[in-house]
Amino acid sequence: MRIETEKIFAKRIWLPGWGEIALSALQLALISGMMLIPFFLPGTEAFKTVSLLNGSGFIGRWLHGFHSYSGDIFIFASLIHTLEYLLKKSYREYHLKSWALLIVLAVMALLAVFSGFLSIGSKESFAALHIFSGILELPGKTGKALSLFILGNAGANTPSASVYFHHIATFTVLTIVLTYMHIKRLKAESYAFYYTFVLLLAISLFFPAHIGQALSSPAQVLKGPWYFIGLQELLSWMPVWLGGWLLPILVLILLALLPYLRKYDWVILYILTVIFLFYLAEGAIGWFLRGAGWQLLLR
Ligand code: HEM
Repeated sequence: MRIETEKIFAKRIWLPGWGEIALSALQLALISGMMLIPFFLPGTEAFKTVSLLNGSGFIGRWLHGFHSYSGDIFIFASLIHTLEYLLKKSYREYHLKSWALLIVLAVMALLAVFSGFLSIGSKESFAALHIFSGILELPGKTGKALSLFILGNAGANTPSASVYFHHIATFTVLTIVLTYMHIKRLKAESYAFYYTFVLLLAISLFFPAHIGQALSSPAQVLKGPWYFIGLQELLSWMPVWLGGWLLPILVLILLALLPYLRKYDWVILYILTVIFLFYLAEGAIGWFLRGAGWQLLLR
């Protein structure tokens, strides 16, 4: 296993380490996020301000795209970085507390990016917000309190500013603090930083990021970001308690158990791989095969 892992990940003269790319993307998300603050009004005006910025010309469109893609690259690079170190069995060298904090970091990183998407108030972000609040609110009063804390009093047509607050404060700050605890620095290697910067610059210049549909639009196909579509697909046929709670909790518990059950870690890795591939397949179905009203296009 070790030899294969090294073969896959080792010789990458042309590409910085995935962890360094993730750290660079986080730095660039922070910088571009701060630049967006003066142009963005959270809450009911959110989508209007994003549309205004996007329609204001080249710089506005570029800035929005740069920030949006920095989140995508951050999540993607973090994911590959995690897979890489799981395959290398690095969890064996971790203190249990540091390992647990790494799992919290993974959750916070996802929430930091996802809350950005939820803040923009497009029809797609509303659809995702309703799915997410449906999950959060399932376990009765505690769930409702959690949903209120993260999403605020978001109604059918009125996004709350809470999720934006958590985007720029709670989740981002926790992601930064936990990243620092993980690698004891926040500055990426210069090569990785410039590499990620140029990559982001090119993507955001050549592929302007979508802002989604206005709430008033008649659009029937409402798909969330690539990392969320698997969950959207899953919950279209699976009960929320299973797809929204049990499966994610199972993944977190299995990850947390890895350093404890060294003798059986291959079993855990096997189950995690099956769940991961299942989620990828669900994502592909949601992405390619679902049309208006989430109807299967093959029928
Ligand atoms: C102080 C830190 C941050 C500030 C002030 C900030 C600000 C903003 C603002 C104003 C928006 C909505 C406007 C727009 O998208 O054009 C937004 C959206 C977003 N942010 Fe941030 N952000 C911060 C940190 C981050 C971080 C750390 C990430 C990811 C690593 C991130 C990823 C995103 C994403 C993915 C969106 C949604 C973009 C879209 O889907 O169109 N942000 N952020």
